[in-house]
Amino acid sequence: MSASSKPLVVITGASAGIGASTARRFVKQGFRLALTARRMDRLEQLRKELKGEISIHELDVRSSDDVENVFKSIEQKEGPVEILVNSAGCGFGLEPSYQGKIEEWDQCIDTNIKGLLYCTRAALQTMVKLDKGHIINLGSVAARYPYPGGNVYGGTKAFVRQFSFNLKADLLGTKVRVSCIEPGLVGGTEFSVVRFRGDEARAAKVYEHTKALSPEDIAEVIYFCCSVSSHVNINTIEVMPVCQASGPLAIQRV
Ligand SMILES: NC(=O)c1ccc[n+]([C@@H]2O[C@H](COP(=O)([O-])OP(=O)(O)OC[C@H]3O[C@@H](n4cnc5c(N)ncnc54)[C@H](OP(=O)(O)O)[C@@H]3O)[C@@H](O)[C@H]2O)c1
Repeated sequence: MSASSKPLVVITGASAGIGASTARRFVKQGFRLALTARRMDRLEQLRKELKGEISIHELDVRSSDDVENVFKSIEQKEGPVEILVNSAGCGFGLEPSYQGKIEEWDQCIDTNIKGLLYCTRAALQTMVKLDKGHIINLGSVAARYPYPGGNVYGGTKAFVRQFSFNLKADLLGTKVRVSCIEPGLVGGTEFSVVRFRGDEARAAKVYEHTKALSPEDIAEVIYFCCSVSSHVNINTIEVMPVCQASGPLAIQRV
């Protein structure tokens, strides 16, 4: 594959978890990567580890101006973005809504919803013009199965799911693809440490005595969505580990 023919993949939230594993999966396949996140030291570490054609960019997806500038600069220097993986995301706490912290709700909504929108819009400008591209959004089973404390996080992922479908509708008539990947329990990421505000012991308990999905499992699913024939659009894939299932409806007995 000549350098110019290698497609360019932009990954948000590439400094950890699913985003970092997706970078590892795509670099193995010879793709060029533009990795974004807030923690540059982590991106630098990953770039050293992967040794491919990789650029790294500091980006807080909550800033629409920064998103626009970073995508412009990537396209100017590296050419059109062929695949965007929107992996940046977070959730906080498991308190009931009436005890939720407004700053954390804002952060969750601004990252999972608004950040994903900004990045998608920025990437689509060229994708639509060139009639070529693929947007991959990280949703969650939390979009479909309610659980106590899932309130705002699950709501943001329901947005991601429906936005992905609506985006597909907007893009009908173009060859741009849209996929929403909806994982269940994924261990080996920082998701629960962030959710429990740095409490690593509490985060570890989430995965105790389970064989959870790994971020590599999800990276494989993401790669699969991109590797099928170009006329095939995988709208959504829901993935759980074998040890997870949805629960029955809850009933309070008096
Ligand atoms: N782990 C799970 O069980 C699970 C299940 C279903 C869905 N998901 C979804 O999968 C995606 C990846 O999660 P993960 O498990 O890989 O979590 P993770 O290990 O915590 O990684 C999250 C990534 O998002 C980045 N990020 C967070 N806020 C950001 C912001 N404002 N701007 C830019 N980047 C930001 C973080 O990088 P910086 O801190 O360096 O910016 C980090 O690289 C998320 O959308 C999550 O909701 C996860």
